[in-house]
Amino acid sequence: MNIHHLSTKPSILNKFISEIRDQKIQKDSLRFRRNIERIGEILGYELSKKLAYETLEVTTPLGTKQIDLPKKEIVLCSILRAGLPLHQGLLNYFDAAENAFISAYRHHPNKDVAFEIVVEYFAAPAIENKILLLADPMLATGQSLVAVHEAIKKQGIPKEIHIVAVIASQEGIDFIENHFPENTHLWIAAIDPKLNEKGYIIPGLGDAGDLAFGTKL
Ligand code: URA
Repeated sequence: MNIHHLSTKPSILNKFISEIRDQKIQKDSLRFRRNIERIGEILGYELSKKLAYETLEVTTPLGTKQIDLPKKEIVLCSILRAGLPLHQGLLNYFDAAENAFISAYRHHPNKDVAFEIVVEYFAAPAIENKILLLADPMLATGQSLVAVHEAIKKQGIPKEIHIVAVIASQEGIDFIENHFPENTHLWIAAIDPKLNEKGYIIPGLGDAGDLAFGTKL
């Protein structure tokens, strides 16, 4: 797997990451969603440098100009519900992409900390041989990404996969490295050292879905 860790070099990205982590600022859900979206835009811009381009001609009022433009073969797939602001950020730049949505949640069968991932809803265009961008803001254990990948594979094998995430644990990265094809790219804004016993990233930011959309039962 090719890992692109963006906060190894300081940039304005760090400002947005600090705001989503900050326990006071993150309470403003509008700002939280917009910051995730801004991070999605930056990750999308960086990953655009690895895509395939074709030379096309654009006609201006005064002449023509050849320009390399990305090929129209992107499917942007997000994991509900926390992935939605990240999806929007990516879609702001890849506005011609097709869209897919998949649900994955942690089910605790014994009401303790042990959980399994349940994938229920999947709505997608054809994926076979396309470039799949898979958006999930928090790469914690990596189990939901792997479960989602298994479900997607039944509908078609993409040519290339780009996983886009905001904060990852090192453990989660190690786990997905063993389950995704070798030519997969991981675009990650920040990497944190560990998980707690409930599978939350430490220090992380808390629950991204709740911060963006409110708590659920
Ligand atoms: N999902 C979250 O929203 N936060 C974590 O820390 C882990 C998974």
